[in-house]
Order: sequence, then C-alpha cells, then structure tokens
Amino acid sequence: MNPSKTVELATPALIIDVDALEKNLSTMAVHHPGSKLRPHTKAHKCTEIARLQLSHSHTNFTCATPREIIGMATAGIGSDFLLANEVLNTDRLSALAKVSENVRVTIAVDSHETIDAAVRAGLRDVLIDVNVGLPRCGVAPELAGQLADTARKAGMTVRGVMGYEGHLMMVGGDEKRKTRVAESMRLLARAAQDVGGEIVSAGGTGTWDMHDETGINELQAGSYALMDTHYAQLKIPFVQACFVLGTWS
Ligand SMILES: Cc1ncc(COP(=O)(O)O)c(C=O)c1O
Repeated sequence: MNPSKTVELATPALIIDVDALEKNLSTMAVHHPGSKLRPHTKAHKCTEIARLQLSHSHTNFTCATPREIIGMATAGIGSDFLLANEVLNTDRLSALAKVSENVRVTIAVDSHETIDAAVRAGLRDVLIDVNVGLPRCGVAPELAGQLADTARKAGMTVRGVMGYEGHLMMVGGDEKRKTRVAESMRLLARAAQDVGGEIVSAGGTGTWDMHDETGINELQAGSYALMDTHYAQLKIPFVQACFVLGTWS
C-alpha cells in the first residue's frame, strides 16, 4: 500500500513535516548562508535531509562519527567535513582516511594522543578543539597554541579552532545567554590567535543568532532542522518538524 493520508500509515511511523523543515532550513540559510553554516548531521542522521541542506547552499558539514562522514561522502553530499569529536579507534579513523581521498576531512584533536591517532590513520587536516566551558572535551585555551605546534610538527595541516558552547544553549533569557556566549567565545578567540589557520567554528541552535560579533566564521547548528521539545522552550524561530505517529488502542 502507498498511503496518501497520515491515517493510512502503519504505526509507529516517523513523520517529517516537510513544510516546517523547509521553513527551518530557509530561516537558517538566510542568516548563515553557504559556508557560514556547517550543519551538524548528527541531529538527523539522514542523507535526504542533508541533501536539502545542500540545496540551501551549505556544502560543508559537521559530523559526530566517522560513519556519519562516510555515509555522507558515499551519498555524494558535501565536500568538506568536520569530525567534531575526538576518535582514537584506528580502524574507524583508517576508514575515514579512505574517503578523505575524495572529499576534505578535518578532525578535531585535543591531545597528543588524538594527534598521534590521526597521523597513524593517514589523516592530515585538523582543528584544535578548545574547551570553552563545556566539560566534555577540548584543550584548555592557553594550551591550544602548543598543541597546534605539535600537530604541525607531526606533519598536519592545522585549519583553525573549534569550541562548542553546548553548556549555554538553554541558559534562560536571551540577554544573559548572549553575554555568556560572548564570554565563552573570548576563550576561543584567544586560542584562535595562538593556533592560526582560517577556521573558527562554534555554535548551535540555541545560540544561532548570538555570534554576529563573536569572531567565529562558521556555525555548527544541527537541531534547527527538525527541532525538539527541549529547544521549543526557547524564543527561536525554528519549529518542530519531526513527530512519531502511534496507535492508541
Ligand atoms: C560539537 C557540536 N557542535 C554542534 C552541535 C549542534 O548543536 P545544536 O544541537 O544545538 O544545533 C553539537 C550538538 O550537540 C555538538 O556536539
């Protein structure tokens, strides 16, 4: 059966409201066109949605795992990928190195170990991941320059820095959030000066319009495409576009 109405769908069914999705993608693309947005694919893990993001002028993507990048590259979507998490597993990094023969792959590093793992796998392009206040990963801002020197000595191309301010996404009140984002991005700017390179990458859906003066040159937002009920609490112009249809008996 090829259902033409929602009620005809077998449940549970994952529903994407394409009008809402389209509105979200356009709103973001107007504010952050082309390479100013590096959409994070982990928020949907769906090449068809990534293809829509591509049609909205974004050719550079952020991914959370090597498999996400391999999936995107195999589908022929995007030309410049950032792995925005640290990976040590040699098999996974080697698989990533294979696709880097056809598309540009840059990986986040925050330690000597992550640099060594990238070198062993044959990956060459890195961003120095800086801890801007989210206690998850990232080198201390004052050590970022030294780490970049280590990476360059190991033969890597250091393209710049990234620093995800995920701890600030839900800080209540736009003004307070904006102030905290500016503080956090000062840490990244300091690191960027020491590191060099052309990329300063940060940001997410909750801070999507708070970076006009922070000095970053690409935003890594992902949730904006489909949104979620958590982010719906914020006053941002993106709407929920993903639902699960169930049957109540
Ligand atoms: C490193 C990194 N960048 C960007 C994002 C995307 O943020 P958002 O879901 O707020 O759009 C995430 C999400 O967790 C992330 O981990």
